[in-house]
Amino acid sequence: MTATQQGMALVTGASRGLGRGIAVALAGAGYHVAGVARDRAALAELHAQLGERFTPVRADAADPVAAGELIDAYRPAVLVLNAGAPPLPRPLHRHTWETFSRTWEVDVKLGQVLTPEHAGKAVADLVSGSAIGPGRAEAGSFLLTGAGLTPLPEPG
Ligand SMILES: NC(=O)c1ccc[n+]([C@@H]2O[C@H](COP(=O)([O-])OP(=O)(O)OC[C@H]3O[C@@H](n4cnc5c(N)ncnc54)[C@H](OP(=O)(O)O)[C@@H]3O)[C@@H](O)[C@H]2O)c1
Repeated sequence: MTATQQGMALVTGASRGLGRGIAVALAGAGYHVAGVARDRAALAELHAQLGERFTPVRADAADPVAAGELIDAYRPAVLVLNAGAPPLPRPLHRHTWETFSRTWEVDVKLGQVLTPEHAGKAVADLVSGSAIGPGRAEAGSFLLTGAGLTPLPEPG
């Protein structure tokens, strides 16, 4: 890990998609980025791209112990709550308990174990942002995760 101008950013779900893009942008803005995901190969690829500005961390961000260890290890100035389980898009009556609650188990749990109080100066919460507002009926669990995350307080 190197000292950077801006400090440390912890980005959950950095292996692909929005999280990867945010990790690249924060590294470009002068942060050292600790990128969390479970796909080791994708994290290694990003590490090769960003070099010493990036620390790959293979972990389940929704696991409370792993989340606590991440905060203790990195003490991030910026915390990006981005890791999310894409919902299985189907009507409620075609879900099982497991398929319905998968998004809940990752997205809502993430907002419980990593909170704005864990960020030194800023928090970006993409998970709740994704799920608030009008949506399709088949996105049921996705919308509920938004309801579960919306009350998060602002960082102090
Ligand atoms: N795409 C959109 O249009 C959109 C719009 C608004 C908001 N959002 C929200 O933005 C976030 C990212 O969206 P996306 O489209 O970029 O999703 P994505 O491509 O499916 O990427 C999800 C990321 O989360 C990681 N992840 C999932 N579960 C994890 C866990 N338990 N621990 C650690 N990492 C985990 C995945 O990595 P691994 O599989 O390697 O662990 C992956 O890096 C989601 O929360 C989504 O709800 C998306």
